[in-house]
Amino acid sequence: MPNTKQVKDYIRTIPNFPHEGIMFRDVTTLFLDARGFRMAVDQLLHPYAGIRFDKVAGLEARGFIMGGAIAHQLSTGFVPIRKKGKLPGKTIAQNYQLEYGEATMELHEDSLQPGEKVLLVDDLLATGGTAEAGIKLIEKLGAEVIGCSFIIDLPDLGGRAKLEAMGQDVHVLCE
Ligand code: PRP
Ligand code: ADE
Repeated sequence: MPNTKQVKDYIRTIPNFPHEGIMFRDVTTLFLDARGFRMAVDQLLHPYAGIRFDKVAGLEARGFIMGGAIAHQLSTGFVPIRKKGKLPGKTIAQNYQLEYGEATMELHEDSLQPGEKVLLVDDLLATGGTAEAGIKLIEKLGAEVIGCSFIIDLPDLGGRAKLEAMGQDVHVLCE
């Protein structure tokens, strides 16, 4: 029998993690499966075939896993956008709101050059606060976000609309 499983079918839901009432969409089960992982990487890139990116930027933490694989596939460098206090060099910072809490993202100030074209990657788009912070950091360095690619969108939380209102091209594999 051919395997007809789609990306969505490899993702599991853990209720009440990390807080009561949150339905946590867990992509570790997608990453665990060789076919699922490859399919996700290929599909995240699909609309951007033929575009030359200078860098792939990944949002901590699961954006590093997808972003590293995508940067390898595109033969670009990889830029980590990290939670406050994790990057060792000189950083720029951006505060943001989460679905559950508040935080700060940081970017090494020498990680992007003005005019560089960037693909932003993460596992999940909820309120869009994390991705918005990442875009602002990239733009502060004068680089340009050409596309934002996510495995999952939670449409009720409005992240996609928020990024599109910023003029971003948003690509998601499932809702
Ligand atoms: C999750 C997810 C995104 C972010 C999306 O990460 O991986 O990065 O939330 O939420 P938003 O669209 O409302 O900003 P989380 O903040 O849980 O951190 P982690 O990856 O370090 O676990
Ligand atoms: N980040 C924010 N909301 C999330 C959810 N429901 N599942 C996984 N990661 C998340």
